[in-house]
Amino acid sequence: MKTAFQRLFDRSPTSMVEAPGRVNLIGEHTDYNGGFVLPTLIPQKTLVHLAPRKDRKVQLSTMDRDGHMRRFTYQIGEEHAQDAWGDYIQGLTWLYAREGINVQGFDALITSHVPMGAGLSSSAALLVAFSRALREAFSLSLTDVQIALLCQRVENEFVGARVGIMDQMAISLGDHNHALFLDTRDLSTRLIPLPWNKMDLFVINSGVRHRLSEGGGYNSRRSECEEACHLLGVKQLRDITDPDRLGSLPQLYQKRARHVVTENQRVLEAVEALQNGDMLRLGKLMQESHLSMRDDYEVSVPEIDILVEESLREPGVFGARLTGGGFGGSIVGICEPKQALLVAKHIVERARQRFDETPTILVPESF
Ligand code: GLA
Repeated sequence: MKTAFQRLFDRSPTSMVEAPGRVNLIGEHTDYNGGFVLPTLIPQKTLVHLAPRKDRKVQLSTMDRDGHMRRFTYQIGEEHAQDAWGDYIQGLTWLYAREGINVQGFDALITSHVPMGAGLSSSAALLVAFSRALREAFSLSLTDVQIALLCQRVENEFVGARVGIMDQMAISLGDHNHALFLDTRDLSTRLIPLPWNKMDLFVINSGVRHRLSEGGGYNSRRSECEEACHLLGVKQLRDITDPDRLGSLPQLYQKRARHVVTENQRVLEAVEALQNGDMLRLGKLMQESHLSMRDDYEVSVPEIDILVEESLREPGVFGARLTGGGFGGSIVGICEPKQALLVAKHIVERARQRFDETPTILVPESF
């Protein structure tokens, strides 16, 4: 029987690669402030099957979970953003040309299991998976860090989302049994083992979708941080470790900066807690992080707050918080070992009675 790729393109793919989504344990909105983050990977992946062509044509197809196909075609050298999923791939070939990285046209099939708008980096998973496919197909000498940096530039310069470097680094360098401690200022990394004998992880998608490239929230938070830096006379909020130094700022900037400054400190403490197997401490830090995002950074939504609230009512849960950029998306939580599925089911059941969206459990995978 022919595969979907063979049916579409009448030949076989030469590269078959994948990249997972990520979930950030703690360290939110710190990456574009030169700060610290602590993400890990989720089981849901984006797969790319690709075969190079001899001409400059790019033929893309995506298949969603129900097997529905969408297509997108363009010529290398004629990329222009159209506010569509194909922009990510167009952005890659556009940037490669600018950087003198040589690729020809290609046919590709993308299958994504990372939900979009859920705060789990579906776009970075797509970009990193695609970069891996192009690296393999055209024998490009790109390191994993270079891949992450190029993917971030595609979002910043082509798609118009001013995202930081966390997602691309997490996906390009992370693994499932570690959290990746990343210092976004110098891109140094440390893999911190996740102590599965002491904890379990759950991720629940609220069903409220967000988009980072929209005019609203994300980009404006970023500008507010820049303004705070300007007023404080520092290059990045990372340069401030003492929240008392923020007293001179107007209230809005003070709140935004306070989140970033205290969140950086929480990431450092979270690394220590993980290393010491102190889950109560880690849970408490996650709770503080959530409150800081809700009240100071103001990126939560009522549905997310309800999910966090319901998590904390569940025995065996150490902590839970909004994960990712916010304005919707998912929560991440930690609980007693091997309890995540049970706990997550209870949380979802109770949350369903409190709001209209349908929350879904993504981690642990229940099938
Ligand atoms: C999004 C961005 C990241 C990061 C988070 C918030 O996921 O892509 O760069 O800023 O939001 O921590």
